[in-house]
Amino acid sequence: MAEETAVIGHPVVRLSEVGKGFDGTTVLDDISLDVPQRQFIALVGPSGAGKSTLLRLVNGMHVPDSGTVATLGENPATCSRGRLRALRARVGFVFQQFGLVGRLSALENVLMGSLATLRLPRYGVMSYPRALRIRAVEHLDRVGLADRRFQRCDTLSGGQQQRVAVARTLLQSPELILADEPVASLDPAASVLVLDILRRISAEDGISVVCSLHQIEYALATADRVVALRGGRLVLDEPAADLTAGRLREIYDTAGDGDD
Ligand SMILES: Nc1ncnc2c1ncn2[C@@H]1O[C@H](COP(=O)(O)OP(=O)(O)O)[C@@H](O)[C@H]1O
Ligand SMILES: [Mg+2]
Repeated sequence: MAEETAVIGHPVVRLSEVGKGFDGTTVLDDISLDVPQRQFIALVGPSGAGKSTLLRLVNGMHVPDSGTVATLGENPATCSRGRLRALRARVGFVFQQFGLVGRLSALENVLMGSLATLRLPRYGVMSYPRALRIRAVEHLDRVGLADRRFQRCDTLSGGQQQRVAVARTLLQSPELILADEPVASLDPAASVLVLDILRRISAEDGISVVCSLHQIEYALATADRVVALRGGRLVLDEPAADLTAGRLREIYDTAGDGDD
């Protein structure tokens, strides 16, 4: 505990020698990773590399088989249910499939981001406190969708829906955002817009983002740091500025070959 972290501040997330498997098959093997404050990390790797599993370990949806996970100072694998709930309220999660309620308006979907802290179920925008409604519109404005706030989410484009999901996450005032392939179902223009918004939020609000991405180009253009998984191993961890697409692709395509 009394390591150099006391000087530089605790990392937002620390994975220490984490291993995880399912049904006897190793999915993540000996992963160590520190996420400092305000950093945007792109987590890249081919399908099945363990990206989603890693993100789920960070918010306690999975428990590691070995090693430890520390998220915002908590161990999600061992803390009480109450503390885990409180921890998840501090961690925003953005999904590939947005996770919105299609028949509800953009505004009401954003307001649902507060449900972790409000006790009762809510029905309709007006059932939320006024101060919260104002904040929700501000967050929609931040993702460029204030004028769409009364539109049903199932009539918005994919990119717009993901921006609503980001605004919903912001209403949680997250200290960390985990994004699992947030642009995998979007066209290139919408992808760039969503990633740009996430990057701006990270830089302006000082929120760390760990974002899994399939496309190397997006990782290089967006992230401060690129971490690559392959065959369950961490095969690359470097500042994005030091990487080229060619080099990253080479590592991505060849590292770990023959290991499994
Ligand atoms: N809940 C689960 N039960 C069994 N196997 C799983 C489960 N979750 C993931 N896996 C397996 O773990 C491996 C890594 O999956 P995942 O973390 O989803 O990779 P990625 O997100 O990089 O595509 C895959 O082989 C997948 O089938
Ligand atoms: Mg995945």
